[in-house]
Amino acid sequence: MTVTVDRSVEDFITTPRQLFIDGQWTDAASGQTFETPNPATGETLAQVAEGDAEDIHRAVRAARRAFDDGPWSRMTPSDRGRLIWKIGDLILEHADELAQLESLDNGKPVGVARAADVPLAADLFHYMAGWATKIEGNTINISVPYMPGANFHSYTLREPVGVVGQIIPWNFPLLMAAWKLGPALTTGNTVVLKPAEQTPLSALLLAQLIAEAGIPDGVVNVVTGFGETAGAALAAHDDVDKVAFTGSTEVGKLIVAASGASNLKKLTLELGGKSPNIVFDDAEAGAVEGAANAIFFNHGQCCVAGSRLFVQEDRFDEVVNGVAEIAKGIKLGPGMESGTQMGPLVSEEQLQRVTGFLESGVSEGATTLTGGGRFGDNGYFVEPTVITNTRPDMKIVREEIFGPVVVAEPFRSLDEIAKEANNSVYGLGAGIWTRDISKAHALAKKLRAGTVWINCYNVFDASLPFGGYKQSGWGREMGHAALEAYTEVKAVTAQL
Ligand code: NAI
Ligand code: MG
Repeated sequence: MTVTVDRSVEDFITTPRQLFIDGQWTDAASGQTFETPNPATGETLAQVAEGDAEDIHRAVRAARRAFDDGPWSRMTPSDRGRLIWKIGDLILEHADELAQLESLDNGKPVGVARAADVPLAADLFHYMAGWATKIEGNTINISVPYMPGANFHSYTLREPVGVVGQIIPWNFPLLMAAWKLGPALTTGNTVVLKPAEQTPLSALLLAQLIAEAGIPDGVVNVVTGFGETAGAALAAHDDVDKVAFTGSTEVGKLIVAASGASNLKKLTLELGGKSPNIVFDDAEAGAVEGAANAIFFNHGQCCVAGSRLFVQEDRFDEVVNGVAEIAKGIKLGPGMESGTQMGPLVSEEQLQRVTGFLESGVSEGATTLTGGGRFGDNGYFVEPTVITNTRPDMKIVREEIFGPVVVAEPFRSLDEIAKEANNSVYGLGAGIWTRDISKAHALAKKLRAGTVWINCYNVFDASLPFGGYKQSGWGREMGHAALEAYTEVKAVTAQL
């Protein structure tokens, strides 16, 4: 049965969507638009303004004015926190609409968006709202050996970085917007946000809610458009003080280069992963379902997907066959159909990319235990897939697939697995399944990853820092760690 689309969502998608700049809805300067498709069918879902360098420039100017001279710059932290809290409330009030938009645009089941993406986004704003009044500096006793006898009063101020460009991906469109906007706003920055071209809709509805919450004009600007044009212009802009990016490691490196070639803007990057999920002999039976959830949640389109499953040898067949059984039972279908457990991948491009990986696995000699190809011939569906008999040098073992595809390998000992788990250019997440507490913590310490889950996976919270070691990124999002990357520290010294 198809879930009925709310009237307001119907209106939202049938009206061509504009850019949100300086508190106004506006067409792209070029007048161009692009189509965002419904990935369950491949048909056009909505028309969206195609912003490019000119629009980014307009938005950066608005953000600069709002930062330098607008009411935002004079607002008390308490008032700022209240407005950010209100954004969280409005997200909850519009939860059904946001979940439907997310499902239509991204493909994920509407029930998952309603239970996870939307409440997590609201909670992030609520969590961050509280920080607005708690941004503090220090007083520091200084010694200054070359000025004997002098007296000083030294303190630090934590100040907003300024105008922030935020470039986000399509796997959790609303939630990624929240992760980015929450810490930027609570610390007093102004923002130009560029959503992914595959999924621009929920960020545009969020912009409406942000305006309704009373965030002043120019503080949050949303410019939809393509990465190579709008995104690149934001990364290269000389009046942008910082860029926060989530997406592929490849584009992350382009953003680093663009910063270096322009004004050395500050960067935080949340990039790819190839996260190990490690099941020991003594794991509870729930580890099987846990391992399936680690890879199949959000169709494997998670930067932390548990895409390398390592099982201690005595339990290898049982655990891997168990995951394969779960994979076979997953109900694929459009996200807006009730009963759907896994929707389509986000785009034709991702379908090609993921099926290309599946073919390379077969040609390199791996065994497909279940799944292994496209599902149906309408929309961008891929079968949940379990692959065994791999070697560490295979492309499917080394590279991020970003689809519902897990490679499984047996291991013998803790020392062996710590080495193999870390044998990746990435270091985003890791899972450990065991009843032995000391083994779990000993291994957690050895893993080079920003997040380690023990007897669980995909547990996120607004208060937990999230980010990567190695090529999985720079800096942390969420938690109070996120505030550091959105503030500059100023040391002030007075001689008394
Ligand atoms: P992407 O890295 O190209 O896109 C992410 C964002 O960056 C989008 O908003 C896009 O418009 C923007 N972008 C693209 N090129 C840009 C440029 N030159 N300058 C500035 N911004 C730019 O990722 P894509 O192509 O959609 O997916 C490719 C692969 O990237 C996926 O298969 C997956 O492996 C990985 N990925 C990882 C994500 C994560 O959460 N870490 C999220 C999305 C993709
Ligand atoms: Mg791309």
